[in-house]
Amino acid sequence: MIIRPRRNRVDANMRDLVQENNLTVKDLIAPLFVMEGENKREEIASMPGQYRFTLDLLLKKVAKLSDLGIPAVSLFPALPDSLKDERASESTNSNNILCQAVRAIKKQTPNMLVMTDVAMDPYSNDGHDGLVDKERGLILNDETLPILAEMAVNQAQAGADIIGPSDMMDGRVAYIRQALDHAGLHHVVIMSYTAKYASAFYGPFRDALESEPKMGDKKTYQMNPANSREAIRELYLDEQEGADILMVKPGLPYLDILKEMRETTTLPLAVYNVSGEYAMVKAAAANGWLDEEKVALEILMSFKRAGADMILTYFAEAAAKWLKK
Ligand code: PBG
Repeated sequence: MIIRPRRNRVDANMRDLVQENNLTVKDLIAPLFVMEGENKREEIASMPGQYRFTLDLLLKKVAKLSDLGIPAVSLFPALPDSLKDERASESTNSNNILCQAVRAIKKQTPNMLVMTDVAMDPYSNDGHDGLVDKERGLILNDETLPILAEMAVNQAQAGADIIGPSDMMDGRVAYIRQALDHAGLHHVVIMSYTAKYASAFYGPFRDALESEPKMGDKKTYQMNPANSREAIRELYLDEQEGADILMVKPGLPYLDILKEMRETTTLPLAVYNVSGEYAMVKAAAANGWLDEEKVALEILMSFKRAGADMILTYFAEAAAKWLKK
């Protein structure tokens, strides 16, 4: 007798009955870039279809994403060099473009969840996520924490629902949690970039923000792509420090990490399908080498299968439309 797995694949209805995982618009978080000015959008050359928007146009985009059923956006500010300095001072300005965007989105579309990123790089003229000691060539850890905490409180006071520390400094989740609670912001969620690897897949994102590090690389704080046990160590620390949601980043090359984390924690898990993953699919599709819709949906489903509860992806809007068909 032959055992016949094909019986369960015989037609679409049977395949639906046995389907193990599902991808829906409710799983998606759309990253968006905001810049100062009016009525302008600039396409990011290495991320076709993704733009830096001025606030007025960003609001239109958010309204559209909301109509499509997307539950959350994640905001990143693209600042002119004139606003960048060594201490990322603009990040704690309550009227910076990011805080303006958070307030305007919550006013226009109150039920859209707004996530903001905590790290110094978009605001730093060093392009690093922490304070740089130039003489010694070091990224300072403990000196960075108060800056991150002040940045997080500033974003949360503007109305951010979810704070996303992406900086990979040690101890930052606990430090930020304490600062938020101290400011009466107990309700604000921390989605920690728990296992964030020192990855070349962030290239297009750094084009978008012009945030390429001026000196050295990020390997003293972001993780070595060769390591997986270290991700579990970071996971235990983020749990202890009070993170509400844990994230793995990038996505596709780190599905094994996602799966291991799923087996280790009871917390919700997010995955960041980063800029370089998006760029690869777009480039191949533009050449007619891959079917963009099918490939993108297959990648997004792979995250669900590996254990993600939510996915940050530049495909969010397109996927929402594809999933409606
Ligand atoms: C910065 C940050 C990065 C991304 C999100 N937050 C880049 C980096 O660490 O250099 C990358 C996102 C992407 O590539 O889509 N703290």
